Amino acid sequence: MSQIKIYPSLLAADFGHLEQGVKMAESSGADGLHLDIMDGHFVPNLSMGPDVLKMARRATDMHLNVHLMCSRPQELVDLFISAGADTILIHIEADCDQEALLDYIKKCGIRNGITLNPPTETERIIPYLNQVDEVLCMTVNPGFGGQSFIPEVLEKIRTIRQHAPDVDIMVDGGINDQTGPQAVAAGANILVAGTYLYRAPDMQAELAHLRSESEAAL
Ligand code: DX5
Ligand code: ZN
Repeated sequence: MSQIKIYPSLLAADFGHLEQGVKMAESSGADGLHLDIMDGHFVPNLSMGPDVLKMARRATDMHLNVHLMCSRPQELVDLFISAGADTILIHIEADCDQEALLDYIKKCGIRNGITLNPPTETERIIPYLNQVDEVLCMTVNPGFGGQSFIPEVLEKIRTIRQHAPDVDIMVDGGINDQTGPQAVAAGANILVAGTYLYRAPDMQAELAHLRSESEAAL
């Protein structure tokens, strides 16, 4: 089994055919699917809600990784847990009691994760590392797909990996066959890729290529 997990980001799929986008990720050999939830406040954009997650849950058995880019995630987690999330990620920059909410997500029987934006001090994540299944290092400023990878985040990944050898470290934003291997070399083991995979002429081939390039960087 591959040591690197690859999650296509549904945000980059054709919104006229979202179910097809879910199934395409599955048939292309993805290890899970990443769903971006935006509230128009934490980030200046809106994306999808719990009904899209329910659709994905009906369409696939793949792992569903839900990224809440929301100011008050404590008001939304129940909706996404009952819609079928397997992992819920909240942001360190959100206006909530992160420790209590991460605990609550675990108590509901699913995986939890904490996310940091590129400008946020890495030190702020450290106290949560023994409480989480997953750390998401944003490699772009969140809100939109199709942005360029911010290489300064590689140092954050290295620092987090030094503090937590066993936690899953995920990267999200501008991931492709160049930046994915760089993130893996720094310590990441889960790659989220939207534009790179959904805009590829052959997602299966591109996903296999990203996997082999990333494994070579281990
Ligand atoms: C950005 C989202 C990402 C986005 C990544 O705010 O969190 O998940 O879909 O898209 P690409 O891979 O196109 O940068
Ligand atoms: Zn995301």
